[in-house]
Amino acid sequence: MKKLMAANWKMHKTQAEAKESLSSLVASIGAMPEDREVVVFAPYTVLAACGPLVAGKSGFAIGGQNVYPEDHGAFTGEISPAMLRDAGCAYVLTGHSERRALLHEGSDFVGKKTAFALGQGLKVTMCIGETLAERESGKLESVLGEQLTKGLALVDDAVSPDVLSIAYEPVWAIGTGKVAGPAEILDTHALVRKLLVARFPKQGSAIRILYGGSVKPDNASEIITLDNVDGVLVGGASLDAASMRKIALA
Ligand code: PGA
Repeated sequence: MKKLMAANWKMHKTQAEAKESLSSLVASIGAMPEDREVVVFAPYTVLAACGPLVAGKSGFAIGGQNVYPEDHGAFTGEISPAMLRDAGCAYVLTGHSERRALLHEGSDFVGKKTAFALGQGLKVTMCIGETLAERESGKLESVLGEQLTKGLALVDDAVSPDVLSIAYEPVWAIGTGKVAGPAEILDTHALVRKLLVARFPKQGSAIRILYGGSVKPDNASEIITLDNVDGVLVGGASLDAASMRKIALA
């Protein structure tokens, strides 16, 4: 399976900035290595401008940062999977910790979004992760277990590993400059793998697990070689095309 090197632009970039950044990323990478895939999770307002920049470019894709689990209707401010696809998205993120914390999204709701988006033909990267207080009080396994169990409850048992990935992002490592150490990443990714195999006995070992949280050009190559690390999800360091290029090819 290709390593999934994902950028999360969060609430950054106008259309002009997004086009400039994505086109220089695509041009500077050129022919994507066989074992890599790059997806940029961009704000809604830039998706339609970014779609054509990756259309037909092997190994590149764009995605939305959120989705609502209905196909249309009176859901002010929300966006449907069909709208994301229409704007050129192949992917969507669900359950990012910023949405869980700031917008009070619970795991059941994340699960509805995840299953609905998959059913509507989007590839989903579902984010999970614990706070420092949860880790320090010994709740790591129960927190990740709850997020994965509820988040994947409605997903088809036969889901293809091509369309579902999990991003493990310890909340205490996001945007803080604190990266989980190799030992923490190895242990936690092994735990996520165990939970995925329990949920999907046939294909759980092939579902990609991304690490996220202060990934930078200088730590990406070490992180990406760890067991059970099948990609990265990069926030701050993805905003600069040259920095994201280094990470994507690390
Ligand atoms: P960061 O963000 O790389 O800035 O820590 C990662 C994320 O939130 O996806």
